[in-house]
Amino acid sequence: MRVLGLETSCDDTGVAIFDTERGLLAHKLYSQSAMHAEYGGVVPELASRDHIRKLLPLVREVLAEAKCATGDLDGVAYTMGPGLAGALLVGASIGRSLAYAWGIPAVGVHHMEGHLLAPMLEPDPPAFPFLALLVSGGHTLLADVRTIGDYRLLGESLDDAVGEAFDKTAKLLGLGYPGGPEIAKAAARGTPGRFRFPRPMTDRPGLDFSFSGLKTAALTASRQHALDAHTIDDIAHAFQEAAVDTLFIKCARALEQTGHTRLVVAGGVGANALLRMRLLELGKKINVRVYYPRPAFCTDNGAMIAYAGSVRLRAGQQEGLAFGARARWSLMDLAAP
Ligand code: KG4
Ligand code: ZN
Repeated sequence: MRVLGLETSCDDTGVAIFDTERGLLAHKLYSQSAMHAEYGGVVPELASRDHIRKLLPLVREVLAEAKCATGDLDGVAYTMGPGLAGALLVGASIGRSLAYAWGIPAVGVHHMEGHLLAPMLEPDPPAFPFLALLVSGGHTLLADVRTIGDYRLLGESLDDAVGEAFDKTAKLLGLGYPGGPEIAKAAARGTPGRFRFPRPMTDRPGLDFSFSGLKTAALTASRQHALDAHTIDDIAHAFQEAAVDTLFIKCARALEQTGHTRLVVAGGVGANALLRMRLLELGKKINVRVYYPRPAFCTDNGAMIAYAGSVRLRAGQQEGLAFGARARWSLMDLAAP
């Protein structure tokens, strides 16, 4: 089965074709980050309008790269939520219409299920069950994953998502958008130990997270010191250490509690090199296999939507002729296909 995947939930237009026999045939991404950078964050209306401009040209490019005619496609998968309502509606309306015009089924995919399944696109994919750490701009959660669609929430952020904390801290330090990669770059130049920020909620039992206090600690430090280039790097360093350490501590705790021997890390913050290294070290120490998508498939992309869509379409799931978007949609509301 050959599935076209469309991702338009936020500020990336992603398109890909996944073939259940041959794997990923082509994928393209257009990032709007340069357009949003001057506002310091995503402007929803601009995002929707840009998806309208970019989506169909990208579909053509991907079809050409995959040497695929529209008649070779067996289904269309689009991100149905969660995300920005207007941005989602662009992908949903175009995806549903293309499928209708081509006479093939369409399926709406949960964006976080896309992230969760992205490691399946890699050469040595994880088997079920596993522990998942999903870390993106909108979500921070630990889930017990039995199989596709069978997810149990173990812990989540009670306030800011970790990616959001990266973005907000980068903004207050005058670094660019999106903040995660900018903080990581600055942190690499920083002096270890000059600042130390809290590891929120690690001193009490449980698997929930809180990142707003960490962001405030960075804000306080930035106000108490002259923000020269060294200080910015040093604060970025301490922020990244604290954020990664917090995720590390909760992952170690969740692995111990659940007894899982596989850990899947996905979502934009999963591209963070320090987080990847520290969790790999943990895995070696306690005999747990750690799986990541390649960094380009940690952040938003069409490949993960094409893959997740192919699994659900293959199981017979499909949308009716109506289409919609679900700006808010819990991953835990999904069922096995
Ligand atoms: O998954 P994603 O692309 O979009 C959402 O679904 O939210 O995640 C985006 C988030 C942003 O907050 C971005 O700053 C963060 O992932 N991010 C990173 C890195 N690359 C992206 N955070 C830390 N280190 C990175 N290298
Ligand atoms: Zn995402």
